[in-house]
Amino acid sequence: MKHLIDIKDLSVEEIDDLIEVAKDIINHKEKYSHKCDGKKLATLFFEPSTRTRLSFEAAMMELGGNVIGFSEASSSSVAKGETVSDTIRVVGCYSDIIAMRHPKEGAPYVASIKSEVPIINAGDGGHNHPTQTLTDLLTIKCEKGRLDNLNIGLCGDLKFGRTVHSLITAMSRYKNIKFFLISPDELSLPEYIKRDVLEKNNIEYVETKNIEQYMKDLDILYMTRVQKERFFNEEDYVRLKDYYILNKLKLKKAKKDLCIMHPLPRVNEISTDVDDDPRACYFKQARYGKYIRMALILKLLEVK
Ligand code: CP
Repeated sequence: MKHLIDIKDLSVEEIDDLIEVAKDIINHKEKYSHKCDGKKLATLFFEPSTRTRLSFEAAMMELGGNVIGFSEASSSSVAKGETVSDTIRVVGCYSDIIAMRHPKEGAPYVASIKSEVPIINAGDGGHNHPTQTLTDLLTIKCEKGRLDNLNIGLCGDLKFGRTVHSLITAMSRYKNIKFFLISPDELSLPEYIKRDVLEKNNIEYVETKNIEQYMKDLDILYMTRVQKERFFNEEDYVRLKDYYILNKLKLKKAKKDLCIMHPLPRVNEISTDVDDDPRACYFKQARYGKYIRMALILKLLEVK
């Protein structure tokens, strides 16, 4: 049985296969509408979510399956003191696959050790978010036509932004990728990712605080929200939350075919005047999320 806890649980070949299946689903939805008849997905969300939970649920429904679960810990027996391990063992009696989000880093891994059904990490604290990364890779493949030879700007909260950590890990396995890490000092990429992923794999990167400095070089600009829920004090959050606000003016020197991405939710970091720019891909990105999660459910349930 296979789980998806970290994006590295999938080989490059497996990721490329998932992307191909997702593209086939987009073009031939009817072919897939009964693939998961009789199957149940459980969504266990111990942290808030709109896209991840609802796209997983829509994905399973569009495959013909059903969905059970909870969207906050307070409505489950965790509120009475039940452990994650016990919760997973029990939910595995009622479902065929579980997507789980938890504020504690490593919680989905702990869950997978005891689970009798596949576990999908739907985000664990400030650590990883592998299905957002699959969404991002499908978006890049569809919008840019390739996953190699890309200059990727990552902007905002690179410290706590789990989507950034998983995306760097995934993209570092493709050829000729250069990262532009754009953040204030306090929100810079953790040292362990620079050391264990970028430097270990000889991936070129630069760090800057200035969003406009390398704008003309970028093929992808991946904006992120400052992760309020991970801050220890409100004062630091208030000081940093509007550090970057992407607007039309800042895009003046950007390439005509730049792809602007954001895992969403957005707060202030992209001005709404950018939404109509043909280079704004973030709402398309949310849509791609459902299709790649359909492909992932099929893979983990071993449905042909
Ligand atoms: N991108 C993302 O994880 O969004 P949600 O928090 O709404 O699931």
